[in-house]
Amino acid sequence: MTSKLFAKLPPDLNPQNLPQHVAVIMDGNGRWATRRGLPRIAGHRQGAKTLKELLRCCKDWGIKALTAYAFSTENWRRPIEEVDFLLHLFERLLRRELTQMHREGVRISFIGDLSLLPKSLQTEMQRSMAQTLYNQAIHFTVAVNYGSRNEIIKACRELAELVQQGELKPQQINESLVAQHLYTTDTPEPDLLIRTSGEMRLSNFLLWQLAYTEIYFTDIFWPDFDRTAFHQALLSYQKRDRRFGQIQASA
Ligand code: FPP
Repeated sequence: MTSKLFAKLPPDLNPQNLPQHVAVIMDGNGRWATRRGLPRIAGHRQGAKTLKELLRCCKDWGIKALTAYAFSTENWRRPIEEVDFLLHLFERLLRRELTQMHREGVRISFIGDLSLLPKSLQTEMQRSMAQTLYNQAIHFTVAVNYGSRNEIIKACRELAELVQQGELKPQQINESLVAQHLYTTDTPEPDLLIRTSGEMRLSNFLLWQLAYTEIYFTDIFWPDFDRTAFHQALLSYQKRDRRFGQIQASA
């Protein structure tokens, strides 16, 4: 119902002031399920549908990039059945949705330490990234086994090696060089971060990249985060005065 109603950009949103890149921390799947007397995995299954719908919505409304935090380096500490379910869910969805996403012009990227994931999942991930590399409609990035501190350590090590090999001087290290050694090297920084379920923290997500990002928290559990909820988030974003440390927002 809502998807028909909001197929086009709602008229109260200014198309000139949309975030180009939205990042989401999809929180509250477990609680959504528990409140309905369902197993936690039912929340993840529903959460995946919500993510798919948000991707379509971003595309419909002209937002060029969406990044989702699907599995953190800390999530391995969950019960083995839940971890297994999530990893299988990613693989199943990739197999099922890739053709359609490719047809719709979605470029898919995965960020995180993918080397620790099951081999069959890694294969699907590499295949989908290669196949969709040149798609232009929207850049969809999924963070899996991702931790921002690990990512920054990785960048430090790579730069230290370049210094050690004599290819770089320590004083040449600057923000842009560090950014080039993060997983997100070819993606502009997010303009808007949304975290659902009432939690108000970053949980080791894109710590470097979020330096000037607007943050929007909502109590809604992720599986219920529909177009209406996203519309609210964008209305809030459009009221912000983004100054990037200056006195007046640049035009
Ligand atoms: C957080 O909710 C959610 C996760 C750790 C998993 C997110 C994964 C999905 C939504 C599936 C996405 C699918 C693809 C293909 C990327 P929680 O379990 O921490 O909820 P709780 O805080 O209520 O326990």
